[in-house]
This record gives sequence, C-alpha cells and structure tokens, in this order.
Amino acid sequence: MRRTLGFILILSTMLLSRSTVFAQQTPTPTKMNFDEDWKFSLGHAADPEKDFNYKIANLFAKSGKAEKTAIDPKFDDKNWRGLSVPHDWAVELPFTKSANVDVLAHGYKPVGGLFPETSIGWYRKHFNIAKADSGHRIQIQFDGIFRDAQIWINGFYLGNHQSGYLGVNYDLTDYLNFGGENVLVVRADATQYEGWFYEGAGIYRHVWLNHFDNTHIVPDGVFVHAEVNPVNAAVRIETVVENLGLTDQKVSVLNYITDRNGKKIAAGISQPLNLAVNGRTTATQTIELNNPRLWSLEDPYLYKVVTVISVDQKKVDSVTTRYGIRTITIDASKGLFLNGKHVKIQGTNNHQDHAGLGSALPDALQYYRISLLKEMGSNAYRTSHHAPTPELLDACDSLGMLVMDEQRLLNSSPEYMNQFEQLIKRDRNHPSIFMWSIGNEEGLIQTTSIGKRIAQTLIAKQKELDPYRTSTYAADLANVATGVNEVIPVRAFNYRQFAVADYHRDHPNQPLIGTEMGSTVTTRGIYEKDSIAGYVPDQDITAPWWASKAETWWSLAAENPFWMGGFIWTGFDYRGEPTPYEWPNINSHFGVMDVCGFPKNIYYYYQSWWTDKDILHLSPHWNWKGKEGTPVDVWVNTNADRVELFLNGKSLGKKEMPRNSHLKWSVPYQPGTLSAVAYKKGKKITASVQTTGTSYAIRVTPVKNTILADGKDLAIVNITVVDQKGREVPDASNLVEFTVSGNVKIIGVGNGDPSSHEPDQYLAGGWKRHLFNGKCQVILQSGKDQGTVKFEAVSKGLTTGSAKINVQ
Ligand code: GAL
Repeated sequence: MRRTLGFILILSTMLLSRSTVFAQQTPTPTKMNFDEDWKFSLGHAADPEKDFNYKIANLFAKSGKAEKTAIDPKFDDKNWRGLSVPHDWAVELPFTKSANVDVLAHGYKPVGGLFPETSIGWYRKHFNIAKADSGHRIQIQFDGIFRDAQIWINGFYLGNHQSGYLGVNYDLTDYLNFGGENVLVVRADATQYEGWFYEGAGIYRHVWLNHFDNTHIVPDGVFVHAEVNPVNAAVRIETVVENLGLTDQKVSVLNYITDRNGKKIAAGISQPLNLAVNGRTTATQTIELNNPRLWSLEDPYLYKVVTVISVDQKKVDSVTTRYGIRTITIDASKGLFLNGKHVKIQGTNNHQDHAGLGSALPDALQYYRISLLKEMGSNAYRTSHHAPTPELLDACDSLGMLVMDEQRLLNSSPEYMNQFEQLIKRDRNHPSIFMWSIGNEEGLIQTTSIGKRIAQTLIAKQKELDPYRTSTYAADLANVATGVNEVIPVRAFNYRQFAVADYHRDHPNQPLIGTEMGSTVTTRGIYEKDSIAGYVPDQDITAPWWASKAETWWSLAAENPFWMGGFIWTGFDYRGEPTPYEWPNINSHFGVMDVCGFPKNIYYYYQSWWTDKDILHLSPHWNWKGKEGTPVDVWVNTNADRVELFLNGKSLGKKEMPRNSHLKWSVPYQPGTLSAVAYKKGKKITASVQTTGTSYAIRVTPVKNTILADGKDLAIVNITVVDQKGREVPDASNLVEFTVSGNVKIIGVGNGDPSSHEPDQYLAGGWKRHLFNGKCQVILQSGKDQGTVKFEAVSKGLTTGSAKINVQ
C-alpha cells in the first residue's frame, strides 16, 4: 500500500513538474545545456533524395519554406537514431583503404568528397518553450560543428557556419513557438576538409540554449585584463552591453570580484549607461585588488569577475568570468617570464581526438589529457592548428598549463578575419593563453609579400583586440626572414632546430620559439621496426627527414637561453597522418603517449628533464623468450647523476648521466631481473624490469572510482593483464570483453595500436578490444542516477577483472 501510494505520489510529482516546466518562466540569464535528445541520420552529398530533398526543394524561395525536407518541423524522424552530443559520426565508420592522400591523412575514415554517402549528417531536436518565456530572448549556441553547417529553426533558415572549429550562435526569438513545440535542424557537411589530420564529423562540441533579457551583455562581451604591480592589481573590465528591446533603456553596469569560492573581495562602482533601441555600448571599469594571488603553473589560482547589468535596480544580466592574474614578459635573449619567474616552454602540440571517441570529447577527458601532460612535466599546449574546444582552455586554466592558441588559416579574407576575431574574443580572458598563433606552415605564401601583408593585417587585428599579448607564426623555414617572418613579433620554427642559433645571431631582437620540435616516431611497446604491420621501435631513434629526435632539439632548447622553449610534435598520437607508413596504419606515431594516453618510452626522457621528480626508467621489457644470449639494447632514462645496471644481480657497469641525454647498455638477454641503481644528489633510486610469466588475470584500473551522476562525467578504465605473481605482462594481446551493470554506459574503447582496425564504437553493444602490448582502455560515462555499478572485463582463459564505480 505504501509503495503504491509512493508510486502515485512520484507519478503525480513528475506530471506536475513537467507541466510546471512548460508554464514557468525560465529565469534570465540561463545557460541551459542542450546536448541531450537529438535525432541523427546520415544524408547524402550526391543524391538529393537520400539527402531528404535538401537540394531539390527550392528552400530559399520563401521565408520558412521547408516542406518535403527534413527541415520541415512536421518531418517524421522517428526512425532516426537518438543520441546526445558531443557526437562524431566519423569515428563510428569503418576504416576504408584508399590511395587518396587526404583520406590517408584523415585516418582512412570514409568522410570527405569521395564519400558522398557518409559525409553529410543531419541532426534534429524537438523542444518546448514556455509561453511565459516570450518576453525575453532565446539563443542557440553551438560550440563546434564539423563542418559547413546549415541551421534552421521551425523551418526558418538561421545561417551557414563554415568553420569546423569555432562556434556559432543564433537568436531564435522571432521564430519560436512559445507554449509549444519547436524543431531545430542542423545539416553538417563534412565533404570538404579543413586540415590534413583526423577532424571528425558532426556536432562534436556542446550545444547551449541561452535565455537572456532584451538588455544584455553580448556573447563574449566581457574582456578582463589585470595590470599587476608588486602590491596590487588593477583589474580592468570592458563590457559590451546591447539593447534589443523596443524601448530605450537606462542601464547600470557593475563589476565585482570574488575569490575562488565565491566570496566577494572587491567591487567597482555602478556605472550608468543610456542605450537606445538596438544600441550597443562598451562600459569600462577598473577594480583594485591588493596583494593578488597570482595565477601560476604551480598555483593556478582563479578569481571570478562578476559583471552585472541592471535596469531600474533590477538585475537583468550577469556574466561570471574565471580570471587568473599573472604577468607574461618575453625577452629576445632570455626567453619567457611568468610573474617575473623564468619559464622554459616545455610544450606539446596536439590535435583534439582521443581513443574511442574521435573528436567528441566529454569535458572530463580534456582534464584527463591535460593532467597526463602535466604529469610528464609539460607546461604548455599548442592548439594545432585551430580554435580549441572551450573546455580544453578551462582545463588549462584550472590545472596550470600555458597555451598557444592558433588560428586555422593565414588568410585575411572576411571569413578568416571573422574567425580570428571570434577566436580572440572568445579566448582572451583565459590566463593560460600566453601567445596567439596566426597560422602554420603556409608554404605557398609564407616567404612572399602576400604572406607578409596578410600577416600584418592579422597582427594589427590581434593588437586591436588583445593589446596585452603577442603573436607568432609556425614557419617550416630555416634562417629565412622574408615574408611573414619579417613582420611577426615572435619567430617560430617548425623543426629546423639547427638554424635557430644562426637566426638569433642575425635577428637578435626577435624572440624565438620552437612551435614543432622533435617528432620521433615510436609505437608503444614495439622494439623492432615492422614495415608490414607499420610499427617503429619505441625508442628515440626514428625521426622523419624534416624532424629531429627528442634529444637533438631539447639539448639545444635547454642549453640556449634565447630559445623560449618549444612544443613537441606531439603529446598524444592522433588519428590520421600515419607517418612513416601508410595503410594498415590509421594513426600517427608522433605522440609521446599513444591515443589512449599510455606513455611510450620517450615520455620518460621528457619527464627526466622536464620535472624535478626522481625518474629512473628502463626499457625495453624483459620478455624475450627465444632470444637468450642475443644482445638487447637497454635504454635508461633518468635525471640521476650516475647509474649502475644489473642483470640477475650481476653488475653490468656504472655510467655517468649526461644532462638532457640517456644511457644505453647492450645486454645479452637472459630471463630474470634487469635492475638499475642510480644516485641523484646522493639519493638512491632503483628501478627494474622482470621477465614475467604468461597471462593469468585481467587487471582493471579506473583512473577514478567515484564519478558524478550528471550524465557527463567519466570513468576512464585502463586494462592490463598480469601473470600469476601479479606482474603486468607487457606483450599480452588478449581479446577482452566489457560489461557494465547499472547507471553507466561504455562510450568508447581503444588500445593505442596505430594499425588496429577494430571499431572504437559498438553501437549495438557487445563492447570488446584486444590488448595492444599489454594495454587497452575503456571509457565509461555516468548516467543521472546515483549508485554503485560493477564493471567487468572478461577474456577467455583469464581470471575476470572487475571494478566498482560509485556514481554520486
Ligand atoms: C608539420 C605540420 C603538422 C604535421 C607535422 C607532421 O609540418 O605542421 O601539422 O603535419 O608536420 O610531421
């Protein structure tokens, strides 16, 4: 009886709350996440009928004309697939062998002009808007759609957004059915690429529905900058306010600053403004903050700047900007200083895809990837070669990682100037960003007067929108100063590290940075080149002709103060650009970590010289059955002063450790224990690798065991196999199947094998993956119910591995 009553009560509350949602006014301002409940179908780039008649419906003849197409609000999408965004349909498609260089560069996924049947994606979303919301403005915000999106609301065309890397927003107010249903439709056309690497396809970043008053702060309309002197900071806040109402408004603008926890610590003085209909004005205020806690790599402290707009004493809009106070100075002969302290840039370049998910990354994965890079000792990230996902910058702000934020193309046409303007306005409040990049390797124009003029136009725009930072351009040029390099404030080198000193000699006043450095190609856990499988040894020995080994560039950068530092190409492997091989390779080998974020051996080279941690790492593994007596090259990566190596307790000799280098022994293989004893400033450090037994049990290692019940958080679960003594088997390749009970779902799997053609997605369930050199990864996403769920990893002949995940 009590249960039935409880059920009736719950049901009536649900019904009540649903109808209340319709009736109630959404408070303004509200930024509502709009990621859930989308419908999706592939269209067709060459067959209009399979593209829901898109190109044969004469859509633009009349306003709101949409019949006989998927744009029509009445269109029946019940057979379309339901999904949540971020979504990347490219990662769901099978790998497809092709001789085309761009298909190769994009990771052999059937997306692009050659694949009309899998390169158009349609998205539809039905939603209700309360009648009571009709007094304010409602805007849709897409953070990123790959690419060339056409967007409609209720059959009305909103616009075309070309960029696959910057977002777009549209005011929906005029077209909405208040108190009724609305249908938003997106057609993403990925037939044209923007880059030469895996780019994904679809609505691969967040979507938001914003409610705000007619009088409001424009999108990206707050610009904060702090001038810091030894005892205080003058925090200057520019706010662009606009009135889209039908009457003039008397508005006041007020800013205040809170600490990280939201406690108000300083406030400005309310500033009156008159705004005519359609008027737009910028208000500027400065707030003094005594003894500010500075944002740094070690203590990335973030204040909150709260900007409030009021009309008749009533708050109508408010924007909170997380802001870090810090100074950056750059000296051509001494490098970069953060808050007056010298920082050598120990950076990585990265594209935005990860194992299992392509480019549709949940926010938690951005934090995971940045924390892995930080753990290695990296302090900077170059967003090669496009505007990053906003949450990536949030992660860099929060975790203390500098960012070079890059424009997609060196072009000053209206399309690209708009993109550049949008990039700077969107990102300039992030303390992590220390420099803009206006482009990368524009071989057709970089040494010409056209290149120079385009660069001058972009640099002038950068200075106008953000006078507090400088910019660079990633040139694949040696000691060449013509064209873009003649005018660029910071000269950057992609590779060609040998020419940096000469350039500095000839141009002593132009600061220098390595925008793409190193680029050793390695396959995790592989020790012999295999051109059939497409593997390269996991040591710092193979670099393409244009690149260099890690030690070559880092020794130069570390030892010469005029090098600001540099960015490795790349932190993580990424899909596409499978250098030095082609098919069956589907992803690059450039990463210091693989696509899952599992370290390769070169990781420990960088960690040795980029951190103060005690690093002592031996490679390869010690499972060489059948090679007894054969010499094996043993690499030792360490930042100790000297190392002694032992095989089964017998000394193989002591060696002094040269700075920024590694040690090597040739050791005839015998099974057992290879161990090292090192001394670092008198402190003893030890490490060893052991010959293991055969695979016995699966070990499941979640990166964290407790996740939020918000439908978005992740449990990243790393899978290994151990022998009977609990030692990880480094060459295991078992097929493992995964299940999860309860309120969590698996959203992707990967193993870091650059030649694996196994799916990363199992849309119909039945998730599985082979281990690659002992490892694979499963990504789980929470639902919205709390509870404990059980994850299991099963493989024939092995003891099952499991983990409990608490969803709270
Ligand atoms: C560079 C380019 C990068 C990547 C890399 C591969 O020239 O800027 O995007 O293609 O080469 O080595």
